Amino acid sequence: MKPKYINLIDSNNEILCKDIYDWEGCLLVGKNTTINPYIISTLEKCKITKIPVYPSRSESHSWKSQNSKVTSKENVFALKDLMNSVVAGESVEIEKIKVISNTFCERIANNEPIIDQIRIFKSEDNDTYKHSLNVAFYSFLIAKWIGLNENEMEKVVIAGLLHDIGKSKIPSEIINKKGKLTPEEFEVVKTHSSIGYEMSATILNINEDVRHAILLHHERVDGSGYPYGLKGEEINIFAKILAIADVYDALTSERVYKNKSTPFEAIEEFHMMGLYSFDTRILDIFFNNIINYYVNAKVKTNIGEIGEIVFIPPNDITKPVIRLENAYIELSNSDIKILEIVS
Ligand SMILES: [Fe+2]
Repeated sequence: MKPKYINLIDSNNEILCKDIYDWEGCLLVGKNTTINPYIISTLEKCKITKIPVYPSRSESHSWKSQNSKVTSKENVFALKDLMNSVVAGESVEIEKIKVISNTFCERIANNEPIIDQIRIFKSEDNDTYKHSLNVAFYSFLIAKWIGLNENEMEKVVIAGLLHDIGKSKIPSEIINKKGKLTPEEFEVVKTHSSIGYEMSATILNINEDVRHAILLHHERVDGSGYPYGLKGEEINIFAKILAIADVYDALTSERVYKNKSTPFEAIEEFHMMGLYSFDTRILDIFFNNIINYYVNAKVKTNIGEIGEIVFIPPNDITKPVIRLENAYIELSNSDIKILEIVS
């Protein structure tokens, strides 16, 4: 794909296909940001006159896939069916799972904006399947952004879809408990990754990398995870990706015991949890890419007004600039907070 260079002043609503740097090499605006008037004026100040954009919207996220039209709801049903079969110990063809994993690629090939994808998945009503689809989706994005090949991307998506399958064998009173788990209950929950690994053996032709990712998705690179307390390179790349996708989705989703965090709060929470629990190279790439998709999103603020994210400073990605009425507010210099992304 060759970028199309266009005049900055004509670039409103176009999507950047490369990062833009100033003359000192500082990142000004990240790839995949949709250009808006605020960004145009920011780049004008830096004497940028032409920018590289995708030649057409359909090329802004290229990914080949043969599979056609499966809606998000159908995906949830298909995943539910498939998981029920695995839980029942029936043998399942890997091809059935590949049909679901291919839909991720299809959607991105059709270039429904990624933020819309995130919203669609968030609106599904069943937590378990929704979480699995979200984890598969974020894992797909991470895999793409860190440069894995198509075969590897498929593995990580399948692992995302199946990562928590072992929870089906944990007593529902523990899984659905609203309060804090006792240490004993937590020990029971921790067995789900090993159980999932065993259960996945019934899937015909499943790849061993996928099974290991299911087994190791709660391992942490600093050795603080489970079931084995593995460290660094002992954990496969697919499990490291799942770990980030899993925690990011948990933080940004509503649960019975907590409100959802905004993506900006989620990034701060990752910092508080200790970035060194995760592969920091992958984490940086994930944050720096996903954040650009929130430019132009509508947000609810703590002063009761709806604003719009117009810019995310690359050097301070948790403090966007928002437009409220006709004023631009830098959240790094304001008491105004984003409570929720509304669209
Ligand atoms: Fe899990």
